[in-house]
Amino acid sequence: MRPGLIGLFDSGVGGLTVADRVLCDLPGAPFLYYGDTAHVPYGDRSVEEVRRLVSAIAEHLVASGAEVLVMACNTSSALALDLVRAWSPVPVIGIIEAASRAAVQATRNGVIGVIANPLTARSGAYELACARAASESGLPTEGLRVLPVGCPRLVPLVEAGQVRSPEAREALMEYLAPLQAEGMDTLVLGCTHYPFLVPLISEILGPRVQIIDPAVYVVAELVALGWSDCPAGVAPCYQVSGDPAEFDRTASALLGRPISGTVRVDPGARTCVGS
Ligand code: DGL
Repeated sequence: MRPGLIGLFDSGVGGLTVADRVLCDLPGAPFLYYGDTAHVPYGDRSVEEVRRLVSAIAEHLVASGAEVLVMACNTSSALALDLVRAWSPVPVIGIIEAASRAAVQATRNGVIGVIANPLTARSGAYELACARAASESGLPTEGLRVLPVGCPRLVPLVEAGQVRSPEAREALMEYLAPLQAEGMDTLVLGCTHYPFLVPLISEILGPRVQIIDPAVYVVAELVALGWSDCPAGVAPCYQVSGDPAEFDRTASALLGRPISGTVRVDPGARTCVGS
């Protein structure tokens, strides 16, 4: 069977870190990217609002022909995975389960730091997913400490393309310091915007802390669902709810290659799927 269209979405440019991993590991995989740039950052919104926005995007992607949905957004996965899965006629890949499985396998001392936006950090989703992942893999759950830190300054910096700026370094040092003090040996990038900050994060943490980028594990899930053998030649498609030219500019700068032709699409009436 020929692998069908992948519908991949985020609040903004962050999901591009997942899309890029898909392009790199599964060249030719047909995907439609949706960035809800008119509403970024989700981290400043209410739970109800995020669920409503995410539902409308999921409906739009399935109506556009997506045969699998990738929630390339931790906030959406933390707050709306249940809702989208209950409604969706196609498989839905969340990002938190995959990252948590990787983190519990990676840690040696059981101290896992998670940097995320405040909404994801407060949701308890990582604590739950790591405990579940550890018990499913037969790993000890006692002694496992999952420490989420809300990082409100990071998404706006990435959306502004400021991934190597002194402001980004200063913010990261502030957010990472308590996790270093707790002795974490594994750090989960709990927001898809953060892989763009990895050069700075690695510089601050040094080689002893393993950094988990969930994108790698999302690709593994796509492969398990049959998206391994993709015929070449299908160009990815990018859509946003905000300014397409601004998205093209920021995306090109962050990825280091030209992204163009993005179109503005309103997913329509912001009704809640499944409710
Ligand atoms: N990149 C998203 C995430 O992984 C959303 C960040 C935001 O909009 O606050 O959570």
